Formats: sequence, structure tokens, C-alpha cells
Amino acid sequence: MCHSQMRTLIFVGWVLFYVSFLLSIRKMWTGKYVRSPLARTLFTNMVTDSDTSGHEAQKWYQCSPDMLEEKVRSLFVQSHLDTETQAFLNRSVEKSSWLFTQLYHSLFSTIFSPVISRTSINGFLGRGSMFVISKDQFQRLLRISPEWKGERMLDLGAGDGGVTEVMGCHFNEVYVTEVSTPMKWQLQRKRYSVLGIDEWHRTGFKYDLISCLNLLDRCDEPLKLLSDIKKSLVPGTGRLILAAVLPFQPYVEIGGSWVRPKEHIKVTGKMWEEQVMYLTTEVFQKNGFDVEAITRVPYLCEGDMYRDYYVLDDAVFVLKPQD
Ligand SMILES: C[S@@+](CC[C@H](N)C(=O)[O-])C[C@H]1O[C@@H](n2cnc3c(N)ncnc32)[C@H](O)[C@@H]1O
Ligand SMILES: *[C@@H]1O[C@H](CO)[C@@H](O)[C@H](O)[C@H]1NC(C)=O
Repeated sequence: MCHSQMRTLIFVGWVLFYVSFLLSIRKMWTGKYVRSPLARTLFTNMVTDSDTSGHEAQKWYQCSPDMLEEKVRSLFVQSHLDTETQAFLNRSVEKSSWLFTQLYHSLFSTIFSPVISRTSINGFLGRGSMFVISKDQFQRLLRISPEWKGERMLDLGAGDGGVTEVMGCHFNEVYVTEVSTPMKWQLQRKRYSVLGIDEWHRTGFKYDLISCLNLLDRCDEPLKLLSDIKKSLVPGTGRLILAAVLPFQPYVEIGGSWVRPKEHIKVTGKMWEEQVMYLTTEVFQKNGFDVEAITRVPYLCEGDMYRDYYVLDDAVFVLKPQD
């Protein structure tokens, strides 16, 4: 047998081994053994269901208004599974069926996950895009028309910029920040101006809108972040749009591992509504923000070879700095 045939044989054998390995892992994930308690808290609430058109999906948006205090109840905006959200789900289902792409992704992340953060791996591979709100939902929350234009916005922790796009079309200048280098490359490719994570509040710019989506539980100093945001908004009209995954579980990703942040916000209450009340009164109001609107939406992430997509439970707030 010549050398190259030998190599092909080894390669094929190796791929077969790898596929069977993945299939066994898949059984473990979908079974009931999720190993560490941290992995459990991070993943067990990512429940998926392939029935996206039916009643299951409508549950993602439901809130029990009686569980909210009166002054917060009137701020709740009901969202629905709209066509833009459905289109994201459809695309995600399709992508997760591309077997060879998924195999390659899975191989890449198995090799690099001990040393690189999951965010950066996704950035390298250009996978794991996220969806928070549609254009329509964004406009309804901020009470703006589809034609409304503002001057300047800033998206903190923008990820790959997929979510930035929904809001960015309403602004002449869009700035973003990111810690993950591969994500920064993706953002630069989409022609956003990337600012340093310690630079954006020192440029002297005032922003009409700052978005801080799913970042509060992933950064080391969330309270300092809120106070820097407050100082950087245009006085009077500037707004902060903030999304938080509930139940609120703050962990910071450093390299391949997860650690507790320096400023640890402990949110009490088990239910979505209780946690929303806590964030409103104990975190936002005590740190200089009043809530103007709240909605409940699923935080969707593109799937992989195990799942069509992942779902987390999000609360989205529009916040106005107190005078
Ligand atoms: C859960 S993702 C959210 C991405 C996007 N905003 C969304 O809602 O889909 C959090 C992102 O924040 C980034 N990040 C973490 N700490 C940060 C910080 N101090 N400043 C800017 N970005 C940060 C991470 O690299 C990650 O991409
Ligand atoms: C999503 O896929 C379903 C079923 O294939 C289809 O009926 C629906 O029109 C699609 N929706 C969008 C918005 O692409």
C-alpha cells in the first residue's frame, strides 16, 4: 500500500472514530447527566423544542402581570413570535443540518475549548449567531417610527454584531465594544467602529442610545458599567436598552473557564417576574435609572449538531437616567 492510501485510511478511520465519539457525547447531553453544577446552571435552562410555530413558542413571551408591582405592570409590553424571529429560527434549523460544517465546528471547539473562550471560538468559526429582538419589537419598545433617525449609538459587548444590526439602522454612527478578538474582527468586517472597553466612556461623545444586551451577567464590574453608561448618555433624551438573561447567573468567561465577577449582583426570586422586580428596584433604581418599558422575549442562539437552536429567557428593559 502506498503512502497516500495509508494516510487516507488513517484519516477515514479517525473521522469514523470521531463521529462515534460525538454521537456518544450527544447521548450524554440529551440524557440527564450534565456534569458540573455550573454546566448545569448554564445549560439546563436552554430548553429546545422543534415545535416553533405552536403553543410552546408563545410561552417564551408570557408574563403574569399580577406578579409585578403595580407601577411596573403598566410598563410591560407584550411581544410575540413575529416573522423576523421565525426567519431566524428557520435559518438556524437549516444551518444545524449541514453535517460537514457542524462536524468541523465540533472538532474545532473540542480542540480549542480548554484554552479559548466559547465566545472566541464562535467568533473564529462565524457560528452561534444570536437573536434578541426584531426591528419591529425594538421600535415598539422605544416608541419610535420605522423612519426615526438618531445621531449616535453604542452597543456594548456586541458579539458578532448580529443584534447590533437590528438597532443600528436607526443611527448615523454606530460604535461597538467587545473583549473577544475574533468577535472584534467580525465587527470590523461589518464596518462598525470598535472602541476599547476602557475607552468608550472617555471619548467625550454622548450617545443617543446605549445598548447593553446580555452583558451585565458576563462582565466583571456591572455596577461600574451602569454608572459609566449613565454619564455617557445625551442628557434628557438618551436611553439605555438592557437585556438580562433570567434567572440571573453572573459568570465571567476568562480563557476557557468561568469565574465569579468582582462585582456580584445577587438577584432574588425564582420566577421571571420576581427577578424583573428585583432588577428594577434594587439594581436599576439604586444605580440611577428608571424603567420606561419592559418586555419578555426568548434569547435565541443558532444551534449545532446537537440542537436546532438554543433558547434562554430574556428580560429587555428601556432605561432612562434619573435627573
Ligand atoms: C452573551 S454575549 C452577548 C452578545 C450580544 N450583545 C447579544 O446580546 O447577543 C456577551 C458578550 O460580551 C462580551 N464582553 C464580556 N465582557 C465585556 C466587557 N467588559 N466589555 C465589552 N464586551 C464584553 C463577550 O465577549 C461576549 O461577546
Ligand atoms: C419558516 O418555515 C416554515 C416551515 O418550513 C414556513 O412555513 C414559514 O413560512 C417559514 N417562515 C419564515 C418567516 O421564513
